[in-house]
Amino acid sequence: MTAAGLRPVVAANWKMHTTVEEGCLLARDVCERADKHPDIDVVLFPPFVHLWPVADMLGATDVELGAQNMHWETSGAFTGEISASMIAPVCRYVLLGHSERRHVFHETDDMIARKVRTAVAAGLRIMLAIGETEQERRNGETIAVLTRQLSTALPVDLPSLTQEGIVIAYEPVWAIGTGVTPTPDDAERVSAAISLWCADRFACQPEAVKVVYGGSVTAENAVSFVRQPSISGALVGGASLRIDEFDAIMHAAQESRTLREVP
Ligand code: 13P
Repeated sequence: MTAAGLRPVVAANWKMHTTVEEGCLLARDVCERADKHPDIDVVLFPPFVHLWPVADMLGATDVELGAQNMHWETSGAFTGEISASMIAPVCRYVLLGHSERRHVFHETDDMIARKVRTAVAAGLRIMLAIGETEQERRNGETIAVLTRQLSTALPVDLPSLTQEGIVIAYEPVWAIGTGVTPTPDDAERVSAAISLWCADRFACQPEAVKVVYGGSVTAENAVSFVRQPSISGALVGGASLRIDEFDAIMHAAQESRTLREVP
């Protein structure tokens, strides 16, 4: 199996980093470098308050914008929350199910499922993050945990995973911000299992399912992940804040695309 036909996605999750000014400068730098990587999709997930100024900075470039989170209700008395309709004017994507939302802010699979429905209804593309904890990995529960996260988050009546532009981000919790990663073979094995599960659920080819890897991706290790047949890009945290490093990761994804192209 290979996801060779898919356009890789390299996404930058800035988390709660950068001032608006720093974010705009970083976005400008990403745009300049992204020009050299025409065969990949680049998505920035800045903090909410950066979205409009960063959108202005991106202008008519191909770099896409996404929000790091959103609420499942469309409006109402939800102090501190942001709705799909608020982000939709500038965002093509929304990141849902990130491990920090699940583990620090106690988001449940059910809450994430409600957000998925709302995002699909709003026409947003979803980057759905899933991943097992260290303990779950040690217990040999990785696939069971991921399958539970996927089966709850993705409604059975979703017409299509691929048409809705849903990307699955496999981010093992123990690899996030730790400098520790799965081996590329392990990441491939798990990503292939995710693709197969999604293909079965949505009656599509496993090759059509876009899975990206996230968790301590760096300029040095990116190539070993993005070249895996079932991995179509990366969701990058810390390294996305350093333009040279992020550029190297975009480059790795661009090369993987070139290498995969059938002559
Ligand atoms: P790091 O790349 O800093 O490990 O973060 C990964 C992540 O959480 C991206 O969403």
